[in-house]
Amino acid sequence: MDENKTGLLWEAKRQAQTVRAYSEAFFAEHGHFPAAYTRTYGCQQNVSDTERLRGLLREMGYRLTEQIGEADFIIMNTCAVRENAEDRVFGHVGALKGLKKKKPELILALCGCMTQQPAAAEKLRAHYPYVDIIFGANAAWQLPGLLRRALEGQRGITELTGGEEGYVEGLPTCRDGKVRAFLPIMQGCDNFCSYCIVPHVRGREHSRPLCEVLGEARALIEAGYREITLLGQNVNSYGKGLSDGADFPLLLHRLNEIEGDFRIRFMTSHPKDCSHALIDAIARCEKVCSHIHLPVQSGSDRVLERMNRHYTGEKYRELIAYARERIPGVSFTSDIIVGFPGESYEDFKETLALIKEVRFHSLYTFIFSPRSGTAAAGYPDPVSPEEKGKWFRELLKLQEQIGAELYRREEGRTLRVLLEGPSKTEGMLTGHTGSGIIVECPGDASLIGQFRQVKITRALNWALLGEIIPPMGAEN
Ligand code: SAH
Ligand code: SF4
Ligand code: F3S
Repeated sequence: MDENKTGLLWEAKRQAQTVRAYSEAFFAEHGHFPAAYTRTYGCQQNVSDTERLRGLLREMGYRLTEQIGEADFIIMNTCAVRENAEDRVFGHVGALKGLKKKKPELILALCGCMTQQPAAAEKLRAHYPYVDIIFGANAAWQLPGLLRRALEGQRGITELTGGEEGYVEGLPTCRDGKVRAFLPIMQGCDNFCSYCIVPHVRGREHSRPLCEVLGEARALIEAGYREITLLGQNVNSYGKGLSDGADFPLLLHRLNEIEGDFRIRFMTSHPKDCSHALIDAIARCEKVCSHIHLPVQSGSDRVLERMNRHYTGEKYRELIAYARERIPGVSFTSDIIVGFPGESYEDFKETLALIKEVRFHSLYTFIFSPRSGTAAAGYPDPVSPEEKGKWFRELLKLQEQIGAELYRREEGRTLRVLLEGPSKTEGMLTGHTGSGIIVECPGDASLIGQFRQVKITRALNWALLGEIIPPMGAEN
């Protein structure tokens, strides 16, 4: 680890000790530790960041609560990717005003992508003055120092860094589950797709050294985790800027060599950096799931170029064909943006054609949302929201049909499923196949955390239903 980042880690630890002394004094006075509530918006990267914030909170003597009403400290980890994500945050922060009135000593913090966007940060300062701490994305290490200052009585503290210091290693993590874990391998993004706010709010790409990622993966496997999802905005460019010579295919090979019964997923892949070497690595590494989330965004070359995506529909199809040839049973999911500025219905039909051809297992579909500070926010956008809505529904209908056909094909098959937890339906367990489909089956809680063969009996449109096949040699 470089010296600067070791310094940040030690600073975080030193400040955490000070807050811990406060929590202990609180305990002496009240008979319980102060309570912290966290809420996360946005992508898996943000969920993972919150896990580090929660790790620090625990280290500082805070008790994590799911009851917002009993919290002494609230952190909202925000997202800025689309306007509706921001609106949701503003709504929820607005609703906290009443809580703060009832309990003036309550400390409120906002962090994450939205705080790094100048317009949103300004709106927060102007209209939500009761927020005590605002800090940026990739900045968990700052939490102890900021909380200490708030506990000393400071208010309106704002610290925005943009994560240029890179990923600070060694901070504690408090993960949500016991079966599946997120493992960040990089942060930031260098791609500047013309519609996307992420590079503006998350800063440049920084990959974690190979030894750090492998060390954390080993610790997770030893702790009993059965699935690791490697996280990054563009995992395919993992290794850029590292001095250890690692790249993403090498990382997959090295993770695959770790002993144990577990599987590896990753997200997100960018088609422009999805090399044949990477597809070969997925094919060779038996622990890596045969599922690739490969956002295509559009099927029109004209739109792709204006999105600054650096690939064509043909290149995308070629990747899919190569992966299908090399990885038996591989499945694909994708992201699509409908109504990009200047997109015509002809362009949109090319997206539909690509979807019909590739046949994705599922799609994450979004209507274009202009983000201030991005190039596309300034492009002329003549198509009406009503028209875009019509296209969007057409896309959903097509995908529903394809998804249903692909799911129905699984009926009667036996699939390896990781049983992850109780389902919402009494007596049922829920899990995922290697291809990422949800499976529900009757089963006992003692099976949670195990891989089991499940015979698929029925396909619903969001999941498969099945029955666990007893292991060989078991009774009955
Ligand atoms: N790094 C990932 C995606 C991050 S954002 C990648 O490159 O694939 C997740 C998805 O949100 C994107 O794939 C895109 O489909 C969508 N998205 C991003 N910005 C958007 C915007 N301004 N309007 C609508 N959808 C957007
Ligand atoms: Fe956004 Fe593009 Fe980076 Fe993904 S690759 S985070 S869509 S800029
Ligand atoms: Fe949102 Fe930031 Fe993720 S903008 S989607 S939380 S990287």
